[in-house]
Amino acid sequence: MDITTNTTDVSKHEINSVVETISGSLGNTVRRTLTQLKALTTDRLQLNNAPTAESVNDTASPHILATVIRTTLETHDTKSYFFSTETPLKPYKAGAHINIEFTANGDRVVRTYTLSSSPKTADEFSITVKRVNHGVASNWLFDHLTPGDQINVSQPQGSFVLPYQPAGKLLMLSAGSGITPVMSMLRYLSQTGNRSDIVFLNYAQSPSDIIFHDELTALAKSHPNLSILFSVEREALSGESLEGRINEKQVSEVVPDILEREIYLCGPQPFMKATISILNKLEFNPAQLHLENFTADLSGAAELGYSAELSFTSINKAVQAASSKTILEEAEAAGLNPAAACRIGICKTCRCKKQSGTTVNLVTGEVSTEEGDYILPCVSVAKTATTVEL
Ligand code: FES
Repeated sequence: MDITTNTTDVSKHEINSVVETISGSLGNTVRRTLTQLKALTTDRLQLNNAPTAESVNDTASPHILATVIRTTLETHDTKSYFFSTETPLKPYKAGAHINIEFTANGDRVVRTYTLSSSPKTADEFSITVKRVNHGVASNWLFDHLTPGDQINVSQPQGSFVLPYQPAGKLLMLSAGSGITPVMSMLRYLSQTGNRSDIVFLNYAQSPSDIIFHDELTALAKSHPNLSILFSVEREALSGESLEGRINEKQVSEVVPDILEREIYLCGPQPFMKATISILNKLEFNPAQLHLENFTADLSGAAELGYSAELSFTSINKAVQAASSKTILEEAEAAGLNPAAACRIGICKTCRCKKQSGTTVNLVTGEVSTEEGDYILPCVSVAKTATTVEL
């Protein structure tokens, strides 16, 4: 993602202290979210209800043949790809993602994308992909995938999803291509005639970067319970649009009842961190926050500084891990080609068994010490001499 948003300068100590104070007196759900907020303040990706390695299901493998039935150019650098399959995908909730697999320039590529379609549209589904600078997958899809082409997809999965019957007031917040799960949610809410009071704030760099602008505008016009506001950093839109990156003053003015709302937040990490800082200042209830981040900051690997011996069973070879590399990166550097898709700990495609050693999951902070644990090598580093089944 190339959207950059303001990172509010909030004291890590302040947030961590709030987290620790509150978490002592709340239930597991709240505590989990608070832990996520704490991790975000330390430059770590977190997902609400992120499943542990042990809870991984087997639907992540892209094994269903899907045919492109049409594509739509959403902006100058973003396209939607609509697919059909012989057997419909399993029922999913709005906000879910799939893994896709295709061959680009002779190489097998697996990636994770959120579904932008509504779960109510059973005969087809779509992903919406924004070109990323030097991104192999996004650029290949943009330049090559056309109607009639076939790729493999997985069943939908994910925990950043809307309930089937959401009640109460909702606030959607997204930046850049973080709009895709929100679009799925809004389409679903529209199709199901949901009457909730919904506010959607969408952030983009410029008017031409706003994905789904016309459809969203039409949705807002036809649904009195839906209020949509765009905020752009450059070349302000005419009319009722906002200007600039997300900030506390803007949010407080536009959504004065924010504390009463269930919040769905999705975007690049700087946007997420800025938003969470604002929510924290407004003393929001973390149990009402659901979030997904499209990027992972794995700089924690270098911060931890581990450099343990790492062995891969398939090649019977050990390497001295670099302190800045994940286990997946080390495996690839060793010449292996392990399965991987999202590479940020979401899709579970890379899940593998650890035979021995201690590893740390950079996303969840989970430390695995037991032999036979399953780990996610794309977001894990070895703390001690480790052997993994790769
Ligand atoms: S969890 Fe998706 S590649 Fe590791």
